[in-house]
Amino acid sequence: MPQDYAAVLDLWHNSGPGVQVCRSDDIAEIEKKLTHDPDLFLVAEADGQIIGTVLGGFDGRRGLIYHLAVAAEYRKTGLGGALMAEIETRLRQKGCLKAYLLVTNSNEEVLPFYEKRGWEEMHLHLLGKKLAD
Ligand SMILES: CC(C)(COP(=O)(O)OP(=O)(O)OC[C@H]1O[C@@H](n2cnc3c(N)ncnc32)[C@H](O)[C@@H]1OP(=O)(O)O)[C@@H](O)C(=O)NCCC(=O)NCCS
Repeated sequence: MPQDYAAVLDLWHNSGPGVQVCRSDDIAEIEKKLTHDPDLFLVAEADGQIIGTVLGGFDGRRGLIYHLAVAAEYRKTGLGGALMAEIETRLRQKGCLKAYLLVTNSNEEVLPFYEKRGWEEMHLHLLGKKLAD
């Protein structure tokens, strides 16, 4: 940061309905996130270009994973799986016992990707509330 920010944002904007870019992705919010757990923001590079990302978070009890994305031309070569394996390892090393991730209704086709890697669908109501304007 900040030199990679534009490329990362561009990747997210080009990742379809699975990655919903929101105000938490503004540069100031990403900087805030990086002060908390910089080692849980992974990027993959090829030829100097950013081709993959995944973000993790650990609050001391549960982990959360966000913004797994691989550039279209690099998909289905194992990179998405490798990013997931690495973020899971890092969460485990921090003492995280269980992690969650969200799949939007418009991106259900990705569910087999996660299920193959041991993620189980949880039938819960997910509630959210804005705590700041
Ligand atoms: C999901 C994503 C990160 C996977 O990255 P990847 O580098 O292709 O993943 P891998 O090469 O490690 O694994 C590919 C496997 O996942 C499956 N897969 C990945 N995305 C899929 C999708 N959208 N629909 C169906 N299958 C999918 C592939 O068929 C392949 O299956 P296989 O292991 O049986 O061959 C990538 O497709 C992507 O960036 N998608 C857009 C963003 C997105 O939806 N992110 C998830 C947010 S919840």
